[in-house]
Order: sequence, then C-alpha cells, then structure tokens
Amino acid sequence: MKQVILTGDRPTGRLHVGHYVGSLKRRVQLQNSGKFDQIFIMIADAQALTDNAHQPQKVRENIIQVALDYLSCGLDPEKSTIFIQSMIPELTELTFYYMNLVTVARVGRNPTVKSEIKMRDFKTSIPLGFFAYPVSQAADITAFRATAVPVGEDQMPMLEQCREIVHSFNSIYGETLVEPQIILPDNKACLRLPGTDGKAKMSKSLGNCIYLSDDEETVRKKVMSMFTDPNHVRVEDPGRVEGNPVFVYLDAFSRPDHFERFWPEYKNLDELKAHYQRGGLGDVKIKKFLNQVLQDELAPIRERRKQWEAHLPEVYEILKKGTEKARTVAAQTMHDVRAAMKINYFE
Ligand code: TRP
Repeated sequence: MKQVILTGDRPTGRLHVGHYVGSLKRRVQLQNSGKFDQIFIMIADAQALTDNAHQPQKVRENIIQVALDYLSCGLDPEKSTIFIQSMIPELTELTFYYMNLVTVARVGRNPTVKSEIKMRDFKTSIPLGFFAYPVSQAADITAFRATAVPVGEDQMPMLEQCREIVHSFNSIYGETLVEPQIILPDNKACLRLPGTDGKAKMSKSLGNCIYLSDDEETVRKKVMSMFTDPNHVRVEDPGRVEGNPVFVYLDAFSRPDHFERFWPEYKNLDELKAHYQRGGLGDVKIKKFLNQVLQDELAPIRERRKQWEAHLPEVYEILKKGTEKARTVAAQTMHDVRAAMKINYFE
C-alpha cells in the first residue's frame, strides 16, 4: 500500500515553538526520510472558520504566515504538497456524508472538542460547524487516503473518531476508505510544550508563546523572563526540574552537542538537572543556555523565512499548484465514495 501523510494546522496565528517540536520538525524529518510516497500539508482555513466566522480577515492573513512558517522550517514544495483546505470542495462534500455515520453524543464525548468548547466559553451557543469539525477532519484525512497523520497528542481523539468513521463507512458501503495511523512526537517533552509563563499550553491569547518568526532579541527576552521553579529563590536552594518550563524546553530542544559548544562544564542535560536539584545553580545561567540552544535551532528558520518573505508571489504560486494537485486526489476519492454509496447516478 502507498504510504501517504496528511496533516495540517489552523491558520489562526503564526506558528510557535510548540508547533515546531510537537509536529513541524517531525514532518520535515518524515518528508526527508524518503519513506512516504505522498505528503499533503493542509492549511485548515475552513476548520479555522468554524470558530472564527466573524473574523475571516484574521484567517485570510494567517494563511500566508503559516505557509511561510512551513517553508522556513524546511517543508519542501518539491516533496510535500502544501494546500488550502477551503479550496477543495470535495472535503466539504465528504464531511456531509460522514456526518450521517456519527452521533451527536459521540462528538460530545470527544475530549478535545469538550475542552475546546470550555476554553471558548460557548456554553449553549456552540456553532454547529465547530461541533462537526472532528467529522470534517476525518474527511481531510480520508480524502487523501492518508496512512499516517503526524500531529500533537491533543489530536488523538480526532484520529480515533476518524478511524471509527472509516470502519463504519467500509462496513456499510464496502472497503473504500483507508484507516490512518497517528504519529506522535517521540520525545515526551514535545508532546505538549508549556507556555513561557508555565501554563499548560502555549496560546496566543495568553501571550506566552515563542514564535518561529520572533527575532533574536524577542526570543532572548522571552526566555530570560520565563517562569521557573517558584521555590528556587536563592541560588543555593535545591530546584525542581519536573514541570519547570525551562527544563521542559531543554528536554525538547537540547542535544549533547549544545553542551559541547555552549556549556562544556556539563556533559549532558542529566548532569545539569542533577546540579539544579542539588542546589547551587542559578536560573539565569540556565536561561542563557536555553537561549543559545533556541537561537541555534531558530536562526536557520528565521533566515529562510526572510528569503521567502522577499518572494511572496512564489509562495502563493506554491499554494496554488499544491491546491490543484491535492484537489485531483480528493476528487478521485470522492468519485470512489459516490460509487460505493451508489449516488453516482449519471455513470
Ligand atoms: N485540527 C488541526 C489543528 O488544530 C488542524 C487539522 C485539520 C488537521 N484537519 C486535519 C490535522 C487533519 C491533521 C489532520 O491544528
């Protein structure tokens, strides 16, 4: 069977380092592994509109930002098809038929939907389109016959629902859809990077994100003002590394060669952690090191972004070509789905 990746992001803001370690970095590795026959990367504007109906301009502006983030992280349009969700009407069409295979109660139990409803404070005014987005996401995945979906851990319930829809569809209409596997980040710290303020999640509204497009000084300032262990008051005090965002970021980003280059007093992160836990190691020193590590990772991304920003018409052309290619594939699946459902009346 063909190995196919589909994944994507909502264009509601620029992408941050949480997106990077949670998903983008892995995508680039998978892209360059040569193990996949096709890779589709979707800018999920239709999904973004499910809770931004009144802010179409925000979604529109962020399409290009997300595309720039993709390209600057190393997604290569020669190897990965980057496209815009709403420009593929087959995705909406599939969603409409899949909705008949899913109950309201089932979506209501989806933990990610549940927590997002809470977060957005919808109370009893949940937009129907928002509520249905797990179904639309199943359409995104199956339209491209994706076998693998690299995403962050919060997307696990979406994948589960997608697999249920695939089973249900195939058992009613005959083997048509492909069942996808989720690919989670392999490093635990990357599953969910906390905000710089120590809150569980990076979020634009909380202002606790480090963006891939932040300049060097902005990153430095954000790192130096990061939340750490509140009980680590004096340098001599023993410090906690668990749940300490500075150490979670180091878990996610630092490699032994960073120690060699920037802080040879320690061989690796374990040694650094041990010293912090014993006491006698100040937060400022660790933050300076984290800043060096982050700058090392982000500098090439920033550099590539600058180059692409100078060629915006080319970026739009990449999106246009990618969308055309993606549409051909989705249309073939739609054709097969119609045949399976016996709604291909004129054939
Ligand atoms: N839900 C994803 C996000 O919040 C975006 C997305 C839409 C997606 N459709 C998808 C991800 C299909 C993976 C597969 O960013």
